[in-house]
Amino acid sequence: MVAPSTKRVVLFASGSGSNVENIVHYFQGRRDVTIAMVLTNKRDAKVLERCNKLNISALYFNKTAFLKSDGVLDILKGLNPDLIVLAGFLLKIPANLLLQFPDKIINIHPSLLPKYGGKGMYGHHVHTAVKANGEKETGITIHYVNERYDEGAIIHQAKTTLLKTDSVDLIAEKVHQLEFAHFPKIIDQLLQ
Ligand code: GAR
Repeated sequence: MVAPSTKRVVLFASGSGSNVENIVHYFQGRRDVTIAMVLTNKRDAKVLERCNKLNISALYFNKTAFLKSDGVLDILKGLNPDLIVLAGFLLKIPANLLLQFPDKIINIHPSLLPKYGGKGMYGHHVHTAVKANGEKETGITIHYVNERYDEGAIIHQAKTTLLKTDSVDLIAEKVHQLEFAHFPKIIDQLLQ
């Protein structure tokens, strides 16, 4: 039974969902926070398998419906979220959602924004560019979502050091570790 005061979080993901899994584990057993649902735009995303194992409700939606109708908006209104969290979600959030949930949608980006942000900069594309430019550090940015990719107000950043010998996969792994350590805690803080 979920108490009326329980904070409700809705997660969006497009891919593997390791952040989703980590967030679900973090809040497991908490009576004051519930993961109301996971939404995905990819019918075959691994996150759906994870949700099944974790016993979390998940729903696939079609990209066109997302961008061109109020279908997803209506689902969200029904879920009544306190916070909407993009955890590896790759579509731009349409205006109808931004208008309905001002300052309630946050994203995690796998670089130190404003570096390596914008359209086409996601996942391995980011880490490949970081490696190609010989960066000595990279990190994560958790930020509010607005109408432009990766440009909303920054809530939190964390850094990790890179070595010349780090492969793109190792950079991705270092960044994921930062995401696992910081993202659930920041969500928790924002809900308080
Ligand atoms: C994460 O590293 C996240 O920061 C990134 O996608 C990955 C998803 O991993 N997000 C973006 O690149 C958004 N522009 P996961 O599916 O294993 O959680």
